[in-house]
Amino acid sequence: MSQTLAIIKPDAVGAGKAGKILAHLENAGFAVKSLRLTVLGSAQAGAFYAVHEGRPFYDELVEFMTSGPVIPMVLESDDAVAKLREEIGATDPAEAADGTIRKLFAESKGRNAIHASDSDENAASEIAFFFSGHERLRG
Ligand code: RTP
Ligand code: MG
Repeated sequence: MSQTLAIIKPDAVGAGKAGKILAHLENAGFAVKSLRLTVLGSAQAGAFYAVHEGRPFYDELVEFMTSGPVIPMVLESDDAVAKLREEIGATDPAEAADGTIRKLFAESKGRNAIHASDSDENAASEIAFFFSGHERLRG
């Protein structure tokens, strides 16, 4: 078993889609190991997406991620990082496969409902970004 980080983004939380997305993730076989609701500040959102600093969409991305509550969560399954990337679908919902979370719930490439870690290394650092050790269930 391995772990990854998902964030239900402000568009989906604001539209009342968080419960449906959580159900979708549980039905796909993920176990929720930690979960919270929070509002990100600009510095926090900027640091989380620091890999994209300087790209044309960075300011818009930070503004969007700070525009309302988000729900970060730790998800566990076999091969969790790859499995979650498959379940969320392509970054742009117009290109996402049928049945994926972004196809079902995202509004646009910028407002795309959910984040997922893209490697085991990033999953570990992103989990630590949102959850301290005592908040993380194991096993
Ligand atoms: P995420 O990190 O949120 O899971 O999304 P991702 O891996 O599918 O996409 P990534 O390349 O990491 O980009 C992060 C977020 O930035 C926005 N974006 N906009 N306008 C654009 O060309 C563009 N490219 C990326 C998206 O909202 C994407 O989720
Ligand atoms: Mg990404």
